[in-house]
Amino acid sequence: MTEGLRAGAVCWCGSGRRYGRCHAAQLLRPGRVSPRRPAPEAIPLPDYAASGTPGARNEPLVKSADMIARLRRAGRIAAEVLAEAASHVAPGVTTDELDRVVHEACLARGAYPSPLNYRGYPKSVCTSVNEVICHGIPDDRPLRGGDIVNVDVTCFVDGVHGDTNATCVVGTTNEAARRLVQMTHECLQLGIGAVQPGRPLSDIGRAIERHAAAAGYGVVREFVGHGIGGLFHAAPIVPHYFDPGATTVMRPGMVFTIEPMITLGTPRPLLWPNGWTAVTADGGWSAQFEHTVLVTGAGAEVLTETDGEE
Ligand code: MF3
Ligand code: CO
Ligand code: CO
Repeated sequence: MTEGLRAGAVCWCGSGRRYGRCHAAQLLRPGRVSPRRPAPEAIPLPDYAASGTPGARNEPLVKSADMIARLRRAGRIAAEVLAEAASHVAPGVTTDELDRVVHEACLARGAYPSPLNYRGYPKSVCTSVNEVICHGIPDDRPLRGGDIVNVDVTCFVDGVHGDTNATCVVGTTNEAARRLVQMTHECLQLGIGAVQPGRPLSDIGRAIERHAAAAGYGVVREFVGHGIGGLFHAAPIVPHYFDPGATTVMRPGMVFTIEPMITLGTPRPLLWPNGWTAVTADGGWSAQFEHTVLVTGAGAEVLTETDGEE
């Protein structure tokens, strides 16, 4: 657990305290998960809503004009729901409360919260606090001032998914965490900036890894961006590090997510026994930002923005 740290060593976290007297004493633990929230029958459901298993089918990498129009709408709705959830982040608010907000905000827009029963996932959103890299399950733990929490919203509407996330600071946090969040946001923007028709997907991870590694941050390799459409997760895979094997050439009409996870310490993940929650192996904090993007003739169009955003 304390990989790379000797007993008595000063922690890397910037507190100046010995490991075990600092953040490590406050490592996150699984909380209580509330019963599954129901989706009314009026909401069109994805194929896995009842069974938990998405049907195996292939979708073309380059989307039709009709599907692109629907992906724009799903993306905008996901962005609205994320903004609504983020506005509720505050000390004392539980991640289960954020789950309720996301669930209701989706239904209010005629959308199904895509995570719900996706491969058996029990909740309507992922909430990843502090050292959780991704796929944190909302529970009864109240957020504390100084925490960072990623809220990852995916909406299914008009037969397609829109997927976006952001890391929020709860109240105010320490300098190291603030810089981590800022760095991770820059990594997403650089990844989007690397989207260019005619170029290989590996350009995206190269831009992200170059920026993060130069400043001493870790880049998570086990979780990647993904194609998206009628399927939540589809080809292509979009690594956030330089992978020379990511040779798929970007073409106008492709739609995929970019969602870098950046860490203060080791990027190596450990999985909690719940089978979902991925934490850093050393307990160091991790941040993430995600957008769903469309490859255009000139670069990228971000689909997961609200009308108010530029
Ligand atoms: N939204 C996540 C992503 O960005 C996937 C969550 S899968 C779930 O790909 F089942 F945990 F919801
Ligand atoms: Co995603
Ligand atoms: Co997501």
